Order: sequence, then structure tokens, then C-alpha cells
Amino acid sequence: MSKSYQHDVLIIGSGGAGLTLALQLAPQLSVAVICKGELNQGSTYWAQGGIAAVLDKQDTVDAHINDTLKAGAELCHQDTVKFTVEHSRESIEWLVKQGVQFSRNDSEDGDYHLTKEGGHSRRRIIHAADATGRAVSETLTGRALAADNIELFTRRVAVDLIIQDQRCQGAYVLNQQSDHVDLFQARYVVLATGGASKAYLYTSNPDGASGDGIAMAWRAGCRVANLEFNQFHPTCLYHPKAKSFLVTEAIRGEGGVLLLPNGERFMQRFDERAELAPRDIVARAIDHEMKRLGSDCVYLDISHKSPEFLLHHFPTVKARCLELGIDITREPIPVVPAAHYTCGGVMVDTEGRTDIANLYAIGETSFTGLHGANRMASNSLLECLVYGSAAAKSIMANIDTVAEPQPAPVWDESRVTDSDEDVVISHNWDELRRFMWDYVGIVRTDKRLQRALRRAGLLQQEINEYYRHYKVSNDLLELRNLAMVAELIIRCAMQRKESRGLHYTLDYPELLPIAKDTILTPGSAITEQI
Ligand code: FAD
Ligand code: SIN
Repeated sequence: MSKSYQHDVLIIGSGGAGLTLALQLAPQLSVAVICKGELNQGSTYWAQGGIAAVLDKQDTVDAHINDTLKAGAELCHQDTVKFTVEHSRESIEWLVKQGVQFSRNDSEDGDYHLTKEGGHSRRRIIHAADATGRAVSETLTGRALAADNIELFTRRVAVDLIIQDQRCQGAYVLNQQSDHVDLFQARYVVLATGGASKAYLYTSNPDGASGDGIAMAWRAGCRVANLEFNQFHPTCLYHPKAKSFLVTEAIRGEGGVLLLPNGERFMQRFDERAELAPRDIVARAIDHEMKRLGSDCVYLDISHKSPEFLLHHFPTVKARCLELGIDITREPIPVVPAAHYTCGGVMVDTEGRTDIANLYAIGETSFTGLHGANRMASNSLLECLVYGSAAAKSIMANIDTVAEPQPAPVWDESRVTDSDEDVVISHNWDELRRFMWDYVGIVRTDKRLQRALRRAGLLQQEINEYYRHYKVSNDLLELRNLAMVAELIIRCAMQRKESRGLHYTLDYPELLPIAKDTILTPGSAITEQI
């Protein structure tokens, strides 16, 4: 039997963005937080490096702003960058108040230890060793579980948004236990569903990163922007048994160097900042060298540091590598680039509001303008915190004026049956992720994008046909969303007739003089550029 639920606020996603918002709403508001699978399975949990914030006495808000603008290849929205960076210190103070234990210096002052990552001109990354995401997730989850006004629903997959009377009033949600689609209604709905890097064959992301929020918002009528800027992290562990394991950029921040298979350093040939150039430059350099040499990977070496230092700063990476027979205190780590972060997303304003009334989007699923053409390391968790907080304030300021949701139709399952052909889903998953990797990856061309667009179209026809006839499942929903987001990524990439930041195309290697966002509008064949 399907069930119906009613709350003041429905938050889809229990990562850093969703939980920050939930915990900052007033305690008299009833809040539902839903997530796929179990708690702590989103990208937030896996974050290693840390959170960028202006905390050091030598650092300034202007320096953080300038580094972000530079890494973003002049495409960041300056007002958004300023807003985010100006709120960085208070965001960290809030996390500390929630109980997050960040790493401290060994020295007597006992201040927080700040590390460095690509694009940052100063040490400004606060972290909990190399498991910052785990510390943040476990703390916020604990707080949310203890809050009387927050109900956490696990194993729930939002299928689509309910738009009535030109405002968002809830979502249809698959219960992965009962296999029924329930109705969740609320005065405000927030998409905090994370990114879409699962569109690519190789990724650092956990399984649920299938762009559900972007696809749901697009189907409901929201504009999306800058999806061509999918970030590839330069250093994911290369090992047949290492599924999606990231080797944090902080290793390069602490002196790690990249080596070719013959032991030669190469990054200084590509950028004066060498290993600490922004990610787009490092990932492209590695891709270039791997293709030039026909090698399967390059190497990251930090073995010149003492075993004590490595154990203290990088216990997670050290332990995982050792499980696979790689001792980072003695030998270099084999690494390759992999899809890591969705810089574009659902267009929002500085309060996290989308184009649809009462629908917000925060965190990686949103497009705020912070990251421009390339996100600077550790600015993502910061964005989750700042926008989670801004959306909470905005909702609280307006909720008294919002009527209760109207009755909505229950999910109709009368014309679908159980699937007898799941192979269609698994086959299409593989096909999609492979052509995205091959044709819409680190280096693009018009021809490759056209090929990819044709395939994305065909896949969507097949998936939609399947969707109409069979009961929904998590795999089917994720595939349907990913195929749609893949098309949006390709369409954005086709619009950009230049190489900027993460979008590099052999057909237009130059930078155009004016930096513009790529904006797609639902129901319109016309793509705007502002
Ligand atoms: P997530 O944390 O991904 O959470 C998404 C939530 O939405 C999950 O609960 C998921 O179950 C739920 N969800 C999704 N779809 C649905 C649906 N249809 N129905 C119901 N629920 C749904 N950034 C940094 O700033 N610093 C770092 O050090 C850093 N390291 C990283 C390391 C790794 C390995 C990865 C993968 C990312 C890293 N990032 C880092 C990026 C950063 O972690 C993410 O961008 C950020 O955590 C995203 O948070 P979020 O709340 O938007 O989404
Ligand atoms: C990392 O630790 O390298 C990831 C940091 C990030 O994605 O911001």
C-alpha cells in the first residue's frame, strides 16, 4: 500500500547540504529528510581533503575570492564568490559547534591544522585528517537523529516532483523496502541530491551520484546551467580492486609529486604551479602524458615524508593503499583522473531558490555561479554549508505565507508490470557511462559530441519505453535520470565554442574574449548564453 506524508519542509538528500539546512530550520517546523540507501552514503561522507575557509591570520577574504575566480577561468559569478567566502568562517564555527573535530597543529598553539590544495595561494583547508567528510557526516547525522522535528527516511528514492498551482508541493518517492511509491507533500521542497559524476565510466563518486535532482528539476521546468563543466579529479587510485577510491589532493598540498612511469616529474612542463595547479590543468596534463606514452596511469609520490607524518595526515589513504599492497611510505601510488564533481546544475539565486516557486536546490545539484569553469578544491563542502544555511533562512522568513499543499493524485501503478528484462537496464548503464567517458571526457571534439548526443537520444527513447511499461526500481530511476543529464551535459558542451576551464575541445582550443554561462531552458530548443 502506498502511504502519504505531510511536512512543512521536504529535503531530498541527507548529505552536507541537506543536513545543514535541516539543522538550521526552526525547531517548530516539521522536516522530512529522505535519502537513497542508508544514511552517509552520499559524496559528503567520502570527502577527504577538507573545507576551504579564511581562518589563518595571514589569509584574507580577498585572497580566497581571487584564487576561486582564477581557478574558475573567469566564469565565476563574483557576487556569489564573495557571498560564499565571506560566510566561510561562520560556517566552520557552526560545524565546530555541532561537534565536528578538526585536526589540530602538533605545535603548542594547538590551532587548527590548515592544508593546501590546487589553486589555493595559502594554507586554508580545514580538515579531519583525510576523512573530513566522515567527520562532518557522522556529526550532522547524529544531530539530525536527535532532533525532535526532523524525521529521517532511508531507502527512499524521489521519482519526480509534484507541481500544482505553479508551485512545488512535494514529491513521489519510491520506498525501497515496500516497493511502493509514496506521496510526500510539503510547503517547501529542497533538492540536495548531489552530483551526476556516475554519468562517466570512471568516477570517484559513490553509486547514488546519478544527477536525480538535476533531472527532476529539469522535468519540472527549471533551467540548468554550465553542465559541460564536469570536473575530473587528477588522482584516483589505479588498481583493479579499487572501485572509486580518491587519493586526496592534500597529498600534493603537502609535497607529493606526480611522476611518469620512468620516474620523471612532468607537471612543471604544463604550469608554473606544477602539482598545485588547478584540477583542470593537472587532469589534462596527466591525460596528455598517458596518451602520449600509452601508459595506464601515472604515479603520485609522497614517500619522502616520514611514516609518522603520513600516518598522522593520511591514515585513510595509507590504509586503503596498504590493503591493496601499496605502501605509500616506500613507493609511489598509481593514479588516473576520474569524474569527480558536477560544476553546473539547477539554477538558483543567493537563497537557493529555483525557477519554480517553493522549490530550492542546494549543494552539488545546484548551480550558484561559485565554481565557474572549474571548481577550486574544497570549495564544494563550503558551498553546501553556506547555501544550506541561506536556504534555511529564506524558508523560515517566508513559510508563514505558504498555504498547506493541496491534495495530489496518488501514484498510478495500474498499467505497469514487474520487469522481466533487467538486462536492458544494466546494458544501458554500461553503454551510457562508456560513451560519456570516450566522447564527452577530458578532451572533446564536435564529432565526438554529436556521436554522444545521438546515442543519448536513442538510449532515452528505450529507457522511456521501459519506464512506461514496468514498475520503477532504483536502478531504472537512476538510469533514466543519468541519460537525461548526459544529454544536458552534451547539449551544454555543444554550445560552448571555446576551451575554458574543464571544457577542452580540439575544435575550439582558444578562449573567447567574453565569458558566458551556458543556460538550457526546458521546452525550448534555444540555448541562451548570458
Ligand atoms: P551528497 O553528499 O552527495 O548527498 C546526496 C544525498 O542525496 C544522498 O543522501 C543521496 O542518497 C540523496 N539522493 C540523491 N538522489 C536522491 C533521490 N532521487 N531520492 C532520495 N535521495 C536522493 N569537496 C570538498 O569541498 N572537499 C573535499 O575534501 C572533497 N572531497 C571529496 C572526495 C570524494 C571521494 C568525493 C566523491 C567528493 C569530494 N568532494 C569534496 C565533493 C563534495 O564531497 C560534494 O560535492 C559534496 O559533499 C556534495 O554534498 P551534497 O550534500 O550536495 O550531496
Ligand atoms: C580531495 O581531497 O582531493 C578532494 C577535494 C575536493 O574535491 O574538493
